[in-house]
Amino acid sequence: MEFYVTAGPGTESVLRDELCELGFSQVRLNRGGIPFFGEMRDGWRACLQTRIGQRVMLVLGRYAAETADDVYAGARALPWSQYLTPKQTIATAAYVHESCPENPNFISLKLKDAIVDSQRDEFAARSSVSRDDPDVRAFVYWSRGKATVYLDLSGEPLFKRGYRLSGGEAPLKETLAAAMLRLSGWDRKTPLVDPMCGSGTLVIEAALWAANIAPGIWRERFGFERWANFGSEEAGEMAALRGQMRREATRQHPRITGFDADEKVLESARANARSAGLNLSFRQMQLRELQGEGQRRFLITNPPYGVRLDAENRLYQELAAAVHRLVGWRCAILAGSPQCIRNIKLNPAATFPLKNGNIDCQLTVYENAGVP
Ligand SMILES: C[S@@+](CC[C@H](N)C(=O)[O-])C[C@H]1O[C@@H](n2cnc3c(N)ncnc32)[C@H](O)[C@@H]1O
Repeated sequence: MEFYVTAGPGTESVLRDELCELGFSQVRLNRGGIPFFGEMRDGWRACLQTRIGQRVMLVLGRYAAETADDVYAGARALPWSQYLTPKQTIATAAYVHESCPENPNFISLKLKDAIVDSQRDEFAARSSVSRDDPDVRAFVYWSRGKATVYLDLSGEPLFKRGYRLSGGEAPLKETLAAAMLRLSGWDRKTPLVDPMCGSGTLVIEAALWAANIAPGIWRERFGFERWANFGSEEAGEMAALRGQMRREATRQHPRITGFDADEKVLESARANARSAGLNLSFRQMQLRELQGEGQRRFLITNPPYGVRLDAENRLYQELAAAVHRLVGWRCAILAGSPQCIRNIKLNPAATFPLKNGNIDCQLTVYENAGVP
């Protein structure tokens, strides 16, 4: 079976590295998402273990399609009844490349028609549509005369780990935080600090990664657990897989600390960490008070942007001063605007363009070797 794990823009290379490390087969670098091959159980395992992937999809079919009718006809011939009966509810979605003549809503409807018409042929009954909470989500990607139809194993997107109780002002998605940690070159052993930690996403994801705690173990149910081919035997296997993930967690990680100027948001961070079963240290502190203490550490953070300009300028000056005085540290900063890192006079060790929601960002990594 062919699977496709979708990736946020700029996170593809680290998702490929992650899937290779997790032992998936025939993993290949690709824009937008990373394919791998395996059995259905491998798809389940990907849902439980990927920290960076946004969704895990099963490729149900791939065929030539020049017109919307071709998309419909190809989809109607796919083996839907292996995965859903008229008892399951469905939702469809489509991506249509500019090389194709229709709009995505129309193609999504065509996919829905193909599914229900194929069901009528076989069962004389059809699934109903549930936009908000479908049992089965199908997706068609149509580009340059070729359509690919997918079933989404994840259900809710995978950044919804299930441990987060509350967010701060602008919480990062867990999948983006996990990608930032890998891109920044953190070795999972060096003590790590986020001096503007908000609701704690980066420090929690860092601890989960270092302690080998699978990010999917809090999820009550993935999408595939509602498919027609997921019976009591499969439920037993999935419970065993969850148990195996729990046993494989070392629960050991280096010192990981979150600071923030706002005590209220730290309450959320503490609650989120507790909910993830982690014992992390959070303390109220201004960025300007952060000191190196002569030990090599790793700083990773996403400062606020879009705040009042004078306050912003002062904060960005404080950030630059911190990066300059933290001799021996490696610092990774997700900047939503070039202003944010303008005052940092070190040459970056690496830069990565990323997207935080709709905002174009850059992760810039500095190595402060202490050379003037
Ligand atoms: C964009 S949010 C971080 C969000 C966080 N990554 C998360 O996922 O929840 C920026 C944080 O910086 C904090 N902050 C702003 N100025 C600060 C300062 N001078 N010192 C410490 N924290 C500051 C804010 O309180 C806010 O929580």
